[in-house]
Amino acid sequence: QSPIESSMIEAHDLLKKFYHHLLVNTKEGQNALEYLQARGFTEDAINKFQIGYALDSWDLVYKFLVKRGFSEELLEKSGLIIKSEKRDSYFDRFRNRIMFPITDHQGNTVAFSGRAIGDDTPKYLNSPETAIFNKSKILYNFQTARPSIRKKEQVILFEGFADCISASTAGVDNGVATMGTALTDYHIQVLRRNTDTAVICFDSDSAGLDAANRAAGLLSDTGFTIKVALMPHNMDPDDYIKTHGAEKFLNEVIGGSLTYTAFKMRYLRRGKNVNNEGDRIQYIEAVLKEISKLTNAVERDHYLRQIASEFSLSLDALEKQQKQIYYAGN
Ligand code: UTP
Ligand code: MN
Ligand code: MN
Ligand code: MN
Ligand code: MN
Repeated sequence: QSPIESSMIEAHDLLKKFYHHLLVNTKEGQNALEYLQARGFTEDAINKFQIGYALDSWDLVYKFLVKRGFSEELLEKSGLIIKSEKRDSYFDRFRNRIMFPITDHQGNTVAFSGRAIGDDTPKYLNSPETAIFNKSKILYNFQTARPSIRKKEQVILFEGFADCISASTAGVDNGVATMGTALTDYHIQVLRRNTDTAVICFDSDSAGLDAANRAAGLLSDTGFTIKVALMPHNMDPDDYIKTHGAEKFLNEVIGGSLTYTAFKMRYLRRGKNVNNEGDRIQYIEAVLKEISKLTNAVERDHYLRQIASEFSLSLDALEKQQKQIYYAGN
């Protein structure tokens, strides 16, 4: 860490405390606090994740940090203030937003993500990439979750940090989230050093399913045993927990998560009508291709039987076709 980087981290740390104070102790923060409460964020969660609020002001943060000795140049480099070329002055990046501090894997506060309180866009405004913040290298909550990831020998991956926070309230202490980017090789390497089992618990909407499919492939290729947790269409883990409660989330969503092959079967079925002969044949062919990748003969047999029974096909024919696919691909 260079002296500039330490200084940037110090500014973030101070500001995190200031934002948190504004949220929980001030009249100006009342609205934001009520928004969080209405969404079901508990006081514990607000404290644990140091959630805060950036007032609807153009220069409160600027003044707050300059008064504490941070230079304009450093603050601009940190992404906390923005220079207005036209007016030759600075203004705060985050205004009227719920603030989620972002911590690097050593526990330093290195960035913020600010959520709009209503339907403003963007929904989440993130710090820019800086000397201390690289989105593709950070997993939200990793530093806190790490001991539990190691102990449980499992990590739960979320798409959003609201999901990570809700799940934490529901008792999931081995959850992490990407920062709105796809899972990177770097993320995977970091996780792999701590565990070899991952439950992918992304949003159950079309984008989330695609992202889950991609993550599942990458993680499997890196030697992870993965499972995929699904929720009713268009729900995310936070929605699910708020609607159905922690227990159902743990037992049914996490507890009922699908194996890689079972997820693939579900995924390949999307947009297909298996009552239609053409779709059905395509689907079965695609599933056999997945089954051909399995090295465990018992597993192969399990899924082949499942397909045979669902579509009233002979197990023998399916086995033959599956072997043919296997040898064609090898
Ligand atoms: P989602 O749109 O699923 O957000 O984006 P969410 O977590 O469900 O948020 P709520 O419940 O509406 O508050 C998932 C993640 O994508 C990133 C954020 O990291 C978010 O957690 N994202 C999303 C952005 O960076 N910017 C955006 O405008 C939206
Ligand atoms: Mn507090
Ligand atoms: Mn989403
Ligand atoms: Mn979501
Ligand atoms: Mn959500």
